[in-house]
Amino acid sequence: MKPVAFHNTVLRDGHQSMAATRMKTSQMLPAAPILDSMGFRMLETWGGATIDTSLRFLGEQPFDRVRELRKAAPKTPQGMLLRGQNIVQYKCFPDDVVELFVKCTADAGIEVFRIFDGLNDPRNLAPAIAAVNKAGKVARGEICYTTSPTHTVEAFLKFAGELKEMGCAEIGIKDMSGVITPRVAAELVGGIRKLTGLPVTLHSHETAGLAAASYVAATDAGATAIETSITPFANGTSQPDTLRMLALLDGNPRQPTFDRKKLAELREYFTKVYKELAAFTAHANEVVDSDTLVYQVPGGMLSNFRVQLKDMGMSERIDEVLAEIPHVRECLGWAPLVTPISQIVGTQAMLNVKFGRWKNFSPAAMDIVLGNYGRTPAPVDKEVLALAEKISGKSPMTTRPADSLKPNVENLRKQLAEKGLPTTDEAVVLYAMFPVEYEKLIKNPGSIVDPAAAKTPAAAPASAAPAPRPAGRHQRLQITVNGKTSEALVEEVH
Ligand code: CO
Repeated sequence: MKPVAFHNTVLRDGHQSMAATRMKTSQMLPAAPILDSMGFRMLETWGGATIDTSLRFLGEQPFDRVRELRKAAPKTPQGMLLRGQNIVQYKCFPDDVVELFVKCTADAGIEVFRIFDGLNDPRNLAPAIAAVNKAGKVARGEICYTTSPTHTVEAFLKFAGELKEMGCAEIGIKDMSGVITPRVAAELVGGIRKLTGLPVTLHSHETAGLAAASYVAATDAGATAIETSITPFANGTSQPDTLRMLALLDGNPRQPTFDRKKLAELREYFTKVYKELAAFTAHANEVVDSDTLVYQVPGGMLSNFRVQLKDMGMSERIDEVLAEIPHVRECLGWAPLVTPISQIVGTQAMLNVKFGRWKNFSPAAMDIVLGNYGRTPAPVDKEVLALAEKISGKSPMTTRPADSLKPNVENLRKQLAEKGLPTTDEAVVLYAMFPVEYEKLIKNPGSIVDPAAAKTPAAAPASAAPAPRPAGRHQRLQITVNGKTSEALVEEVH
């Protein structure tokens, strides 16, 4: 058997999970040649929240990072995380924008595209997969892992089969909440390999303390690769550390060989960078948080949720609200608790407890019920659907969400020309997603769009509840209850 391959995430998920995605290209470049010489099968460098933070907080041209890393680390393929039809945003984009984004990204130097949809709706993945194949790059279809009565191993295997049919060259299991257990990891990896014959990668987070053990189980079940990071951008809410993973595979016939002296050098270098990013790191991210396992909600969601409940004067009812979450999830077709769905589900659970079940129906929850985010994993509750139709006056969407969107690339190019901004393909796709931030960056190169937010450290605990994790890993969501609007932080998908 071949050694299990390691992918390294320190240049993307590592700092997204541990330092609010604030690592600059200049902080990556000194480590790139060492990372390139190690024998990692892939370096994850881009996508997720990196493009948003490059524009908004770092004053960097996002595509330049890919090109510079390509020069500094030419041997190892670079990978990115792509949110299917949402690209690297939270809303749905027309197919032509998705295709152009993939083309630009492939041209810049990304070889592997990890493509996912929060609802695991294949229709939200197909255009991106096709575009990656057209560009001659690797489409790695990701299965978003979550637990619910509908999310059985069989259901995930069926989805893996669909990903292969749609043209994925590899399959990834994306366990963003870090809740996959070693037993399930082994069953899924073994099952997907047998069914598809494709390379399988497990991507998990050490948030609840399960990831490294699940990686060992996945290795024994024949996973092609597992994804690790480098301490201190490792463990906790990030991927397990590379050296730690090597030790856990000691004596395992699939243990790979890595130069431990170079790993020590990398650790020393990234410790320096971690200190430079101290404003964005938090002890809460560094530790294993078993609350995730007790409450069956992602750790980041729980810590923010406590703050939100306090805001609504409902701190003492947290147990009732948490108990209501499975009911809401079931009514919403067991949507996975990933951004932005996690916060929508949490808020609806809170409303149900405060006002009675479905007496106060949030518009965002209604959107999920009406299919505006895509097809839910299981059918939505009939009575809740009837209520949503009655309140909104709309029928459920039965087509793919992007089917209602017209091609927009040439229109965007015209808008850029009118504003006197660049009209290149890269400009078009960045402007499509981040119009305000892109325009500010071009008009004032090197500037930081939002200097206050760029320097915001982790919030101090307002009560006995744990502090929310630092901004930047989060999106802000406005929630209005009986005329009172509060702002909730929504945990980033990574
Ligand atoms: Co991740």
